[in-house]
Amino acid sequence: MDTIAVLADSTKGNTLRVAAAIADELGVTIGDIRKPLPDAGLLFLGSGTYEKRPGFWMKHLIADNNFTGRKVALFATSGTVDGETMLAGMAETLEKKGAKVLGKKDPRGLDIIVHYRHPHPEDLERARKWAREIAGK
Ligand SMILES: Cc1cc2nc3c(=O)[nH]c(=O)nc-3n(C[C@H](O)[C@H](O)[C@H](O)COP(=O)(O)O)c2cc1C
Repeated sequence: MDTIAVLADSTKGNTLRVAAAIADELGVTIGDIRKPLPDAGLLFLGSGTYEKRPGFWMKHLIADNNFTGRKVALFATSGTVDGETMLAGMAETLEKKGAKVLGKKDPRGLDIIVHYRHPHPEDLERARKWAREIAGK
């Protein structure tokens, strides 16, 4: 089985909550997105959606690394469907950099549209289920 890393760019904490649920489900701890990319075969990369784009650290992580031979699963939180558009852009860039982006082609990952400001228990359960399926558990 692949070693797994979960990284999130989260200004207000929503994406971090989703990342925590994913990491817990997969039995790993959340990595530090500001540090060098961990040497894991399967990367779960998540970001909040800010002006239709990923956060600063996620943009840098994608720009600064080579993803050849890496499997990547993408997740986002957003206020609207912009999250899905953002995931599509992230997937396209990552594929150009050699990544194999797992999951469905549309959307290109899990987007949780945050209602009433925070992810709800059912959102976190959805994230757990999605992560299990992606990781083949
Ligand atoms: C500065 C800012 C810009 C945002 N821009 C968008 C946007 O363009 N589209 C969208 O759907 N949501 C947008 N949102 C909503 C966030 O994506 C949403 O609240 C997300 O859960 C934030 O993630 P975080 O709590 O992990 O930082 C924005 C929020 C902030 C604070």
